Amino acid sequence: MIPELSNPSVCMRDPERVHEILQSMAKSGSNTVQVISDFDMTLTRFAHNGKRCPTCHNILDNSKLISDDCKEQMKELLNTYYPIEIDSSRSIDEKLPLMVEWWTKAHELLVQQKIRKDLLAKVVQESDAMLREGYQLFFDHLHEHSIPLLIFSAGIGDILEEVIRQAGVFHPNVKVFSNYMDFDECGVLKAFKGELIHIYNKREGALLNTGHFQELRARPNVLLMGDSLGDLTMADGVQQMENILKIGFLNDKVEERKQSYLDSYDIVLVKDETLEVPNAVLLYLT
Ligand code: TMP
Ligand code: MG
Repeated sequence: MIPELSNPSVCMRDPERVHEILQSMAKSGSNTVQVISDFDMTLTRFAHNGKRCPTCHNILDNSKLISDDCKEQMKELLNTYYPIEIDSSRSIDEKLPLMVEWWTKAHELLVQQKIRKDLLAKVVQESDAMLREGYQLFFDHLHEHSIPLLIFSAGIGDILEEVIRQAGVFHPNVKVFSNYMDFDECGVLKAFKGELIHIYNKREGALLNTGHFQELRARPNVLLMGDSLGDLTMADGVQQMENILKIGFLNDKVEERKQSYLDSYDIVLVKDETLEVPNAVLLYLT
């Protein structure tokens, strides 16, 4: 039905079920569909030419906006907490407080750096940030068909907006839930706004934004895309959901994590740096 589902990167626990969901969604029509996607390592690449690509936080970590000392500390945090993030031997309950610790420490460090709002665009421009291959088609197709795209990210909203703006795909159908920077009257970072979004509280984040999901109540068919098991709760605010198709990118620690991804995502894309499969699904639905 969708030839791309036979790509070597595609794994499915229950291909029949995937076909049923797709058929049911296609029957309802694209005007009943909404897309909810994570950002870092889902819409952006995990690696390119053997080198890791940056997350929103890494874009700042690698920039001139922060001191060498802060770079060192951010790197230490990454080296401590990233292995925990992807550790399949620990439960989410066990990881959650540690992830809160990571985000809290990282944001405290960033706030000490007196980061200037007017320099963010340049930092993104000079960074190695890379959207996945096929991003243009993905964003443009959703825009053309007036399908709302919610980017739900535990990264940094100001940075991710800049990435998609510079890529020319920040269309009006795109909405972002993320951690936004709060600047003082001189345009210097003083805090982060609102409730912290980290990798394991996207459910709470979704439930705080009932207004958004209320507006989209005529779209009970959801395409969800993520790279972490924490991303699975991004659609918890959707009202009277009819169908949900979950596509998960499995970028790292593939063997250890494959079974848990197959158990929770309908389609698992193993070490696939492209949006080829999500694009094929969208073409089928529209
Ligand atoms: P996402 O929800 O858009 O995927 O963003 C979360 C990612 O950000 C998660 O994979 C971990 C990463 N991260 C860093 O790279 N550096 C940091 O300092 C923090 C707090 C998170
Ligand atoms: Mg991610």
